[in-house]
Amino acid sequence: MEIGFNVAEALEAVVAEAASGLEVFDETFVPDLRPADPRFGDFQANGVLPFAKKQGRNPRELAGALVAALGDAIGTDFAVGVAGPGFINFTLKPAALLRWLRIYGSGKDLEAGAAGLHRGRKLVIDYSSPNTAKQMHVAHIRSMVIGEAISRLFEFSGAAVIRDNHIGDWGTQYGKLIYAYKHHLDPEALEKDPLEELERLYKKGDALCREDPEVLERARAELVALQRGDAENQRLWEEINGISEKAFEEIYARLDIRFDAQLGESFYRDKVGEVYAELVDHRIAEESEGALVVFHPEHPRFKKQPFIIRKSDGASNYASTDLATVLYRVREWQAEKIIYVTDGRQQDHFQQLFLTVEKWFAAAGRAVPELDHVWFGTILGEDGKAIKTRTGNPIKLKDLLGEAEQRARAIVDEKNPSLPEEEKAAIARAIGIGAIRYADLAQNRTSDYVFSWDKVLSLEGNTAPYLLYAVARIHSIFARMGENAGAEESAATPFETDQEQKLARKLLAFPEVLKMTLSDLRPHFLCTYLYELAGDFSGFYNADKVLVDDPGIRARRILLCRRTLLILEEGLRLLGIRTLKRM
Ligand code: ARG
Repeated sequence: MEIGFNVAEALEAVVAEAASGLEVFDETFVPDLRPADPRFGDFQANGVLPFAKKQGRNPRELAGALVAALGDAIGTDFAVGVAGPGFINFTLKPAALLRWLRIYGSGKDLEAGAAGLHRGRKLVIDYSSPNTAKQMHVAHIRSMVIGEAISRLFEFSGAAVIRDNHIGDWGTQYGKLIYAYKHHLDPEALEKDPLEELERLYKKGDALCREDPEVLERARAELVALQRGDAENQRLWEEINGISEKAFEEIYARLDIRFDAQLGESFYRDKVGEVYAELVDHRIAEESEGALVVFHPEHPRFKKQPFIIRKSDGASNYASTDLATVLYRVREWQAEKIIYVTDGRQQDHFQQLFLTVEKWFAAAGRAVPELDHVWFGTILGEDGKAIKTRTGNPIKLKDLLGEAEQRARAIVDEKNPSLPEEEKAAIARAIGIGAIRYADLAQNRTSDYVFSWDKVLSLEGNTAPYLLYAVARIHSIFARMGENAGAEESAATPFETDQEQKLARKLLAFPEVLKMTLSDLRPHFLCTYLYELAGDFSGFYNADKVLVDDPGIRARRILLCRRTLLILEEGLRLLGIRTLKRM
């Protein structure tokens, strides 16, 4: 049989095919292949039991008939057995494991295999998307690292990905900000740290508006002037956005993130009229107390809680912008799927957005894109509350990244003081940034998690330093082997020891992990897998000597080292983490 990139999938197809050739099965039979209890095999087909029950037949008999029919098709690759009341267990033979590992020998080969998963699909991933005139804080990192990992994973799996940074550059904050800029600017401070000064101005404007109704009125007037295209306010708005974007760019560069599009909310300000008109025409939106709103009568909450798409003063808002954005992405980019990566507190917004788009597109005769909200929980401090500085302020992201690099640098200085300066800096960066990133990705994204420096930087456990160390260790194994590592892969003989087989099986599981990670949009599946893979490698390396005399055994053990290194490096790269040759 053609074992393919994803062995489980290939086997499932072969089993279904064999069943369809047997009279006793009909199209209601599904092999339902799952990973087996490792004591019994690699995969288990559970489909015979429910099928036999429905038909009132003996499941063991049916399973036997199916196994007999499978015989020739899979006999060279799998050992097959019927267990219990009618489960079929499949165990990959060592020669088949070896064959797969020989085929998938480089990043390109893996990518070519994975490309079948989402080939040619047009995807927009909306992540980071910060609001202007504010610093990025620790909480902002989650959207960035999760969004970037998902983008890389989809790209690797054949999709055409557009990474879109939907910057919040058209909010009501501009009224207060422009007012404060005009009356309370400290030009020296603006020169020194522009973003800091903008934040101060915003806070000042906000406080004044609260104290003094007259200021509030004037701030509103500034906003209206901006929205009407007043030249001076337009210029200030551009200046503010320029300052913000520069600060964002610095963070993106440090995190190896780049976008294909950065169409902020302001880009859609002249595109909302069409949305209102269509939604009213199709009787999806209605006027309510002067505002334009959408109710979803079929939904327990949204039948009463309106989705406000135009405010009573006629201004557009977050919802109108997001509706116009969906239309733009579908029309201009032919997006088939849009993924939004934000905080869990925006769940209602996206549920209402998605329901509205589904009804609107269906009514307008457009294909409805697949819409996904990838939401995440909160990063907590060791006190169990949202993480803050000692003085109770949000931690700036640039400070967190700086501290991570510093702390990693201290470890490098201690462990490897003789390395050249430049290399030490690169290592500190890879470990520091990688550690923060991995700590975030390794958590189930919908849970909150407690951030602790000791945990994220630990060399033990499911951490970036542990995995980076595992990678560097395999590089050092190759360095020590020198010319002996050049053994021909074709000389490899099939795996024999338990540790060899365990490691080889783990390597073969990579495609299925990739698939699961993308179908649930949960990068922690991949993290857990890489962590286990590193563990299986240690088990193998401690038990089985690599440089033995027998050329066949030596070649296959070197092959296992190579493939482990390959999948660890590719896996970490997909998560956005830089790896090192030594550390
Ligand atoms: N700017 C928003 C915020 O900071 C996130 C935007 C997410 N993307 C979107 N299309 N709504 O909360």
